[in-house]
Amino acid sequence: MTSILLLAGSPSTPSRSTRLLHYVGERLAALGHRHQALHVLDLPARALLQADFGDAGIMAAKAQVAQAHAVVVSTPVYKAAYSGILKAFLDVLPQDGLSGKLVLPLATGGSQSHMLALDYALRPVLSALGARYVLPSIYATDAQVNWSAGDGLALDPAIAQRIATGVEHLSASLLSQRSSAQAETASASVLRMRCNA
Ligand SMILES: Cc1cc2nc3c(=O)[nH]c(=O)nc-3n(C[C@H](O)[C@H](O)[C@H](O)COP(=O)(O)O)c2cc1C
Repeated sequence: MTSILLLAGSPSTPSRSTRLLHYVGERLAALGHRHQALHVLDLPARALLQADFGDAGIMAAKAQVAQAHAVVVSTPVYKAAYSGILKAFLDVLPQDGLSGKLVLPLATGGSQSHMLALDYALRPVLSALGARYVLPSIYATDAQVNWSAGDGLALDPAIAQRIATGVEHLSASLLSQRSSAQAETASASVLRMRCNA
C-alpha cells in the first residue's frame, strides 16, 4: 500500500497554505490514498535551527518522510521564496531524502508577483534531494483561498480545478509506480524460479 505525506511548511497557525494542503489530503483520501501529516511547526525549534540530526523529534519526522511514497509539500511565500522553517527541515534530511518519491508542491502568497517562487526556489532543492518526479506546482494567492468557521474552505474555482488536476496526476503517477514495482517483483520471482529449476 502506498502512502502519502502531507508536509506543512508554514510557521503560522491558522495557515492558508496548510488548509490548502489538508484539502489536497481530503481529495487524495477520496481517491483511496492513505496519508499522514507532518507540520514542521510542531518540531522542536532549537533542534531544527541547530540541525540536530540526533534529536528524537527530528528523527521521527525524517522517518515519516522516509516511509512515504509521495510528499505533498506546502509553504507560504516569504520574501520571494519558500519559508525558512521549511528550509530548516529540508536541511536535516539526508542528501537522498526524497529519493524515488513523487512530490507535489503547493504555495500561497500575498499576490501573483511571486507565483514562480516554487519553481525557481523550491523545485531545485527537491530535485537535489533526489525526488523522482516533481509534479507541476500549484500556487494560490490569499484572495483565492478563503476560510470561515461557518462555511469552511472556499476556493477560487480556478484553484479548485488546478488542485483537482494535480491530485489526479499524483494519484495516477502513484498507481503507475505501484504497478511497475509489482511487475518488477513478479519478473524477479519468475527469474528466481527459473534459476532454481
Ligand atoms: C514574513 C512574510 C513575508 C512574506 N513575503 C511575501 C512575498 O515575498 N511574496 C508574497 O506574495 N507574499 C508574501 N507574504 C504573504 C504570505 O505569503 C501569504 O499571506 C501566505 O498565504 C501566508 O501563508 P500561511 O497562512 O500558510 O502562512 C509574506 C508574509 C510574511 C508573514
